[in-house]
Amino acid sequence: MAQLGQAFRIDKKGAIDLVTEVDLAVERMFRELIAQRFPDHQILAEEMGGAAAVPRGPCWVFDPIDGTTNYAHGVPIFCASLALEIDGVPEVAAVYDPNRQELFTARARRRRVPERRPLRSQPPAISCDALLVTGFPTTSHSRIDEIVGLFAAVRRRRRARCGGSGSAAIDLCCVAAGRMDGFWEADLKPWDIAGGALIVAEAGGRVTDLGGSPFTSRGGHVLATNGHLHDAMLEVIHTFQNRRA
Ligand code: IPD
Ligand code: CA
Ligand code: CA
Repeated sequence: MAQLGQAFRIDKKGAIDLVTEVDLAVERMFRELIAQRFPDHQILAEEMGGAAAVPRGPCWVFDPIDGTTNYAHGVPIFCASLALEIDGVPEVAAVYDPNRQELFTARARRRRVPERRPLRSQPPAISCDALLVTGFPTTSHSRIDEIVGLFAAVRRRRRARCGGSGSAAIDLCCVAAGRMDGFWEADLKPWDIAGGALIVAEAGGRVTDLGGSPFTSRGGHVLATNGHLHDAMLEVIHTFQNRRA
């Protein structure tokens, strides 16, 4: 954050997938902290990896900067995203947005997100009142037509904003805070979604994969809504996928 607007090194991990020296420095700091405090805990984080399969015991799932493309371009929309999973089950989550100085936290089975207004208690009066958001993953070039096609299918039915914020974790927190009504994205990584998904669920929202099956951070696909629109969104996705098949 301190380096935003200054010169820093930017490398490419893929055609449109960036990493800056700040991503690496933040992850290094985090790893040192966990090694000091919880030396027997595992870490799965974006830049230096970790266990591919769900490990037994505690595992910290961490994205040092979610929204790296924004960060690299000086767009102040990014965060750090963290979840603690025990035997693969999310227990604690925190997403920190340094630009707005907002901290979203959740503890499993507590149903409480401090400092945030609750999810909308009523469905939007008419369908176009809903704000639905998606992101376009940096790694799925072969599936881009399908991903954009699903966006078009949702857009035909409801107000949907293209592209999301550039940070899946911030989009999920916006759903938890009742600012957005729903967010979906395919082909994400555990560190993009593990924290935000628990924050939505504990705020009283609904989180599944794109087929309506239970969400897992390793599954990569997420549909998170205020609950009211979830079945309608699943139906749009289902119809779209059937037409393609
Ligand atoms: C990205 C963001 C973005 C999403 C991409 C992710 P990164 O993470 O979450 O919103 O659309 O799929 O890769 O690369 O900024 O950590
Ligand atoms: Ca990310
Ligand atoms: Ca990242």
